[in-house]
Amino acid sequence: EKSGYDYFMLKEIVEQPQAVADTLLGRVGVDGTLTLDEMRLAPSELREIEKIVIIACGTSYHAGLIAKYAIEHWCRIPCEVEVASEFRYRDPILDRQTMVIAISQSGESMDTLMAVRYAREQRARVLAICNVNGSTIPRESDGVLYTHAGPEVGVAATKTFLTQLVACYLVGLYLAQVRSLKFGDEINAVIAQLANMPAQVERVLATVGPVRELAHSLADSGTVLFLGRHVGYPVALEGALKLKELAYMHAEAFAAGELKHGPIALIEEGLPVVVVVPSREGRGVIHDKIVSNIQEIRARGARTIVIAEEGDETVRPFADELIEIPAVPTLLQPLVATIPMQVFACELALAKGNDVDQPRNLAKSVTVE
Ligand code: F6R
Repeated sequence: EKSGYDYFMLKEIVEQPQAVADTLLGRVGVDGTLTLDEMRLAPSELREIEKIVIIACGTSYHAGLIAKYAIEHWCRIPCEVEVASEFRYRDPILDRQTMVIAISQSGESMDTLMAVRYAREQRARVLAICNVNGSTIPRESDGVLYTHAGPEVGVAATKTFLTQLVACYLVGLYLAQVRSLKFGDEINAVIAQLANMPAQVERVLATVGPVRELAHSLADSGTVLFLGRHVGYPVALEGALKLKELAYMHAEAFAAGELKHGPIALIEEGLPVVVVVPSREGRGVIHDKIVSNIQEIRARGARTIVIAEEGDETVRPFADELIEIPAVPTLLQPLVATIPMQVFACELALAKGNDVDQPRNLAKSVTVE
């Protein structure tokens, strides 16, 4: 039950360190060897893969977008990501050397299921990443990697999103191991960092308190914009989706580099803009570029709400509100950067008097196309 929380969503946000830990449990050996048995795809098959196509809807699609950055970087396999409802209607190119990854919390989204059926007809190998045991999508796929988030009752995906990210990282790192790439040391280092993420997720939850007051102060805003770069861009998309579905507010996310190509015209006095700043580790250039983006929008009147890693003094002068998250490797940053967005959307919705477990017009699993 709700264990003292007013809403399941609040409880599910707090359960995230455990959900992440449970999804890693038994899969990461002490020496960094990964065991993903239920994948049912033999290493010899995985070595034949030439292309990966990720299909999913909504929040699961955002997990897929993040997976692309990680998989292409670690495995050097081209990776496409597409919303499932578009996928099979455009005659996609699939064959035996294509691995399709279908991400679905419920395992029942009709759009994703139809895309899975289509992919199998085209002889692609299909791996499902799902949270609900024995649901339709894993049953119809070649292999499955279950997320161990436990049941999610709130309609908005929170803990299942974080565990989908973990599952995607595991697949990417496993593929890199099986294909024994030149980055062996890097891969082992990332596995160790991934194993440490439950503690980092716990730390964000401990510091996210001020986001609540901030959210309440923004309840009357008409629009909130979200900006990010690299893996921060899908995190921004996810922040905007959460705000739409829970607070019924107009929210839109952009890749920060696209601002100058049009959206900057939207910036006006007092407009709240949430910016996800990439970690400085290994991504110095994009970090500096986004800092200048923040300066640009602030000079035009935006109220800047900046999510940045702790100790990043470069953003402080341009942040009207600074939300600090632990410093973690860039590719893993979505695991910590998403949490303030969830809390922000949830609190803003509560400030407006909305039922965050049952937002209007939405169902937990969408079983129609
Ligand atoms: C957003 C949300 C939806 C789902 C989408 C896919 O919070 O929950 O966008 O992510 O309907 O659902 P699954 O993952 O069950 O296929």
